[in-house]
Amino acid sequence: MKLGVVGAAGRGSSFARCVKEVDFFELHAVCDISEEGLKKAVEDCGAKEGYLSYDEMLEKSGIEAVVVGTPMHLHAEMAIKGLKKNIHVFSEVTAAISMDQCHELVAAANESKAFYMMGENYTFMKPNMMVRGLVDKGLLGETYYAEGEYLHNCTYLLEKTPWRRKWQYGMNGVTYCTHSLGPTLQWFPDDRVVSVSCVGTGHHHFDKEGKPFEQEDSTMMMCRLRSGGLIRIRQDFLSDRPHAMTNYTLQGTDGCYESARASTEEPRVWLRSRNEEPKEWENLFDLGKEHTPEVWKDEELLQQVGHGGGDLLQLFHFRDAISGQGTCDLGIHQAMDLTLAGLISQESIKQDGAWLKVPDSRDW
Ligand SMILES: NC(=O)c1ccc[n+]([C@@H]2O[C@H](COP(=O)([O-])OP(=O)(O)OC[C@H]3O[C@@H](n4cnc5c(N)ncnc54)[C@H](O)[C@@H]3O)[C@@H](O)[C@H]2O)c1
Repeated sequence: MKLGVVGAAGRGSSFARCVKEVDFFELHAVCDISEEGLKKAVEDCGAKEGYLSYDEMLEKSGIEAVVVGTPMHLHAEMAIKGLKKNIHVFSEVTAAISMDQCHELVAAANESKAFYMMGENYTFMKPNMMVRGLVDKGLLGETYYAEGEYLHNCTYLLEKTPWRRKWQYGMNGVTYCTHSLGPTLQWFPDDRVVSVSCVGTGHHHFDKEGKPFEQEDSTMMMCRLRSGGLIRIRQDFLSDRPHAMTNYTLQGTDGCYESARASTEEPRVWLRSRNEEPKEWENLFDLGKEHTPEVWKDEELLQQVGHGGGDLLQLFHFRDAISGQGTCDLGIHQAMDLTLAGLISQESIKQDGAWLKVPDSRDW
């Protein structure tokens, strides 16, 4: 299938390495508004065609699927254009930056013959998939509490990617929750976030002009699930500290999980069925092949690609979904489940943490 990548000189470039590993796709065209970046992307990716205009790429290249890797505020608009032409869309996170965009995107996905998937790559990381497997086998019992944290001082990226000043730190609340909520929500089968409350820690960091960022340093979003469970999300783009983008916790009636919090640590799990007394942790990776997801059994290649293998596995998932070989658990409604919670948190924080309902796009 002929594939195009837009934003090919930025995040899109990391897909080029991965696309080569997925026989199904031929990386046919790339697009970027940066002339210099586009030239390099064409060479690096070995693409047949390069475009400075997205509309022109959609019009002329004959691509049947597109990866949208542009800045956040362009995702929905570009996805909608692709869907309207019945071109399959794989979009970077988050799916959209406003409620209006969400409605338009869902309508376009519902009307299109093509398929929409949001690339939430953290859900494919090995520990996250292993924990999901344990949950699905019932080994943690009923899950009722989880935490996900994305602590990533990204202020060093402000000059290179000025759009972040507005769309990630230029508004208060959780603007980028999918890497934390994506994996944790999958640990609550058939569940969704029904309401959120969001608060922050105040403003202790300033931009180059000495102005505080509109976003508070750490924002905390409590997510109430349909099942009654809770997920706590912490996002921090601003505090000075070592990065920690994959902090997770899960509690169930028969087990619990704590992710590694630093490169010197290992993820650990306690399962009643294996360690009733004494209650001792086990290294998650010591659970062995029986609990290792099939796709992770040969990890040499996965360890070479970005985001702990997630960047490649998500493309396999996209391929399987559009070729009818598998179901997709990051389709339009799951993309909305992960995106809408963050958007509503931005309203909640304005109302001092008021609990606000998160709409269900399946009802639209
Ligand atoms: N999933 C992940 O792990 C992950 C990691 C990094 C970034 N991201 C997401 O990827 C997106 C891009 O981030 P980035 O850091 O690469 O940003 P970036 O600004 O470096 O890259 C975006 C690229 O898009 C190009 N672009 C901008 N407007 C365009 C347009 N109208 N048409 C064509 N090209 C256009 C830019 O020239 C740039 O090369 C963001 O939404 C970001 O949140 C996700």
